[in-house]
Amino acid sequence: MQIITSKDELQRLCLDWRCSGVKTALVPTMGYYHTGHESLMDYARQRADKVIVSLFVNPTQFGPHEDLAAYPRDLAGDAEVASRMGVDVLFTPQAEEMFPQGHGTWVEVPELAKGLCGISRPTHFRGVCTVVMKLLTLTLPRLAVFGEKDWQQLAILKRMAKDMCLPVSIEGSPIIREKDGLAMSSRNIYLTPEERKQAPALQLGLQHARDLVAQGERDVEKLRAAIRGYWQQHLPTGSVDYLEIVHPETLAPLESVGRDALCAAAVKVGRARLIDNLKLV
Ligand code: PAJ
Repeated sequence: MQIITSKDELQRLCLDWRCSGVKTALVPTMGYYHTGHESLMDYARQRADKVIVSLFVNPTQFGPHEDLAAYPRDLAGDAEVASRMGVDVLFTPQAEEMFPQGHGTWVEVPELAKGLCGISRPTHFRGVCTVVMKLLTLTLPRLAVFGEKDWQQLAILKRMAKDMCLPVSIEGSPIIREKDGLAMSSRNIYLTPEERKQAPALQLGLQHARDLVAQGERDVEKLRAAIRGYWQQHLPTGSVDYLEIVHPETLAPLESVGRDALCAAAVKVGRARLIDNLKLV
């Protein structure tokens, strides 16, 4: 596995690959790998000749009071994981390499970024879109892989690629969970043992709503109330940031559950802000 820190070097290599018909896949990450990240690398490995993983804790997607400085990092451990997963190139730029002084162009998809995580993180998706756009132009992959755990991120990036006519297929890969159902996340290390014990209730509350839908409940307000009730009982340390039932592509809030409905939630548990989602039908 080649480790590259220079964007020019990366772009030369990837331009060569694209021009000579080598099929490449990009997996953007911020590191501190767990099995969820590995599953994306595996997804890419199975579909491309060359796999490029970027590892960059992108400062532009963190708000002023968020955990940029505390975000967990382990470059040596991550390089081992990537190498074991058969990654060809690990791109690990410094912040100035990606956002040098004078950087002044931003990419936004406001319609999809305004709700859900966008309410408490108003500049987050602008940072995500801009860095992913740069990574895509540096690597020119045929496909780029993202986790369905960050459903809103995936929906926004799909729209960005479509709107900007990018020659790439943006693909989603399923959520990888701990045995007790908690979605894996680099931020789960912020949980205390007691909080960790309660955290699976986030997903179980969403499953409770899915069960109610299977029994015929269609009213979104009733479903949300049922989930909140479940959390009050099983996730008492949590404070709900948002809980919405939306259309999975447009992310527009629904009034009643029809053919396509996604329940998405963010709950603050201690120092961690946990997100999860579940298709209700
Ligand atoms: P990061 O949080 O490191 O996640 C990298 C990728 O791993 C994302 O596509 C995310 O959805 C996916 N992922 C995380 N946990 C997962 C899980 N439990 N199961 C499946 N996939 C999972 O998301 C980012 O970084 C950044 O916003 C990034 C896209 C790299 C832009 O900076």
